[in-house]
Amino acid sequence: MIDKFVTNKIAELTIEGEKYSLPIIEGTEGEKAIDIRKLRQETGYITLDSGYMNTGSCTSEITYLEGSKGILNYRGYAIEDLAENCSFVEVAYLLLHGHLPTADEYQHFSNLLGRFALIHEDMIHFFDHFPPNTAPMAILSSMVNSLSNFYPEMAENPIEDIDIMATRLISKVRTIAAFTYKKSMGWPLVYPRHDLSYCANFLNMMFDSPVKPYVINDEVVAALNKILILHADHEQNCSTSTVRLVGSARVNLYASISAGISALWGPLHGGANQAVVEMLEDIYASDGDYQTYIDRAKNPDDPFRLVGFGHRVYKSYDPRSIIIKKACDDVLEALNVSDPLLDIAKELEEVALNDEFFIERNLYPNVDFYSGIIYRAIGIPSNMFTVMFALGRLPGWIAHWKEMWDDPNWRIGRPRQIYVGPKHRPFIPKEEREKKDR
Ligand code: SDX
Repeated sequence: MIDKFVTNKIAELTIEGEKYSLPIIEGTEGEKAIDIRKLRQETGYITLDSGYMNTGSCTSEITYLEGSKGILNYRGYAIEDLAENCSFVEVAYLLLHGHLPTADEYQHFSNLLGRFALIHEDMIHFFDHFPPNTAPMAILSSMVNSLSNFYPEMAENPIEDIDIMATRLISKVRTIAAFTYKKSMGWPLVYPRHDLSYCANFLNMMFDSPVKPYVINDEVVAALNKILILHADHEQNCSTSTVRLVGSARVNLYASISAGISALWGPLHGGANQAVVEMLEDIYASDGDYQTYIDRAKNPDDPFRLVGFGHRVYKSYDPRSIIIKKACDDVLEALNVSDPLLDIAKELEEVALNDEFFIERNLYPNVDFYSGIIYRAIGIPSNMFTVMFALGRLPGWIAHWKEMWDDPNWRIGRPRQIYVGPKHRPFIPKEEREKKDR
């Protein structure tokens, strides 16, 4: 796919007096890259870029981010338009297929989600063998990986009908997430229902009970659709790059997604939404002393980061946090709930955004800063917040895995390195070794 975007412009590189011309690649939104695919072959040099701050891994038609302007588009559609006008299922279809579904396509996709909502009853016994208090993300990653064993056809034909593969996973992960919560509480499982929409079904599986039927609130369903849409994709973030790298070894979709779930779990990535609420709870417990956290975040000797702030790409507002912050107010009003953590979050944002340290480093609230407030208002426990992130990110992970799998130029991912260890040294038999020889 890369070759389509190679321009006739070049970058000139001079190494030890030798001149090299490297082609320039330009994307459909004007992003530019130096094509170094032949660099090592022509110069013997590689590039080094820890954290891949300046390195692109692929071209992609799925999501476009413009960090300095806070732009986020899925398949060309602005996130604001999608969050306002679509359901999560519609956006999942868009990410997978590259176009919004017609009414028939939407119905077919929804029917498949309903058809695949149950998990094999044998999988339910898995829950009984995790230690109590096992992290829900560990359960999710294990369960998703084991899913591929229930579908051996995936090994022979890893990309059967993408709609079937995708909806089976998107639907079953929703069930696994809800069952994980119920099992952690020791409560009876609530099975999915065919008459409920994707998000309403999830809420019902989470909160319905034989002794107190759950009343589905349309505002909450709408807010959950919006939140999942906002999490649905984000180009080559850590977990999506993990799915691509693992998948590049020709690993089946479910095992690749299981790896992505593990990457998302990290507190610097998807685990931040849980860490934000824990930080806000600590601030609340210290009578709102958020200044201590601001000061710690600014202290170069303190590893503490103001969770929910900062982003590798966005050096202005994360557009998702703006939408989620508004949704916070809407959900709390709809549920007639007030949450002191929301007030603390807003004060913390206000102080940070007026502090030179944060201004100089372009640190703004990211997608994780407010999302936990909504999950709390809905009744979702904080140890399930990152599972919610995974639920939202699934369509994006699947779309990227499929895009990579369909790319005729695709190679197994295998980065190089610069070795800085000991130079070659003679072997010394154990009997003759002394510490002084090290
Ligand atoms: C997600 O990539 C994606 O798209 C991710 C994501 C997605 O949708 O997939 O958007 C989801 O993961 C959002 C981020 C959630 N994580 C957090 O909220 C954790 C707190 N944030 C930071 O750890 C940090 O901002 C990162 C990890 C998000 C980004 O780190 P970078 O790009 O490596 O930034 P950096 O470490 O180079 O920071 C630049 C400077 C440094 O200061 P100096 O060394 O220049 O003095 O900014 C400072 C950092 O110390 N800094 C922070 C900070 N984030 C960066 N200082 C205090 N608090 C913070 N939150």
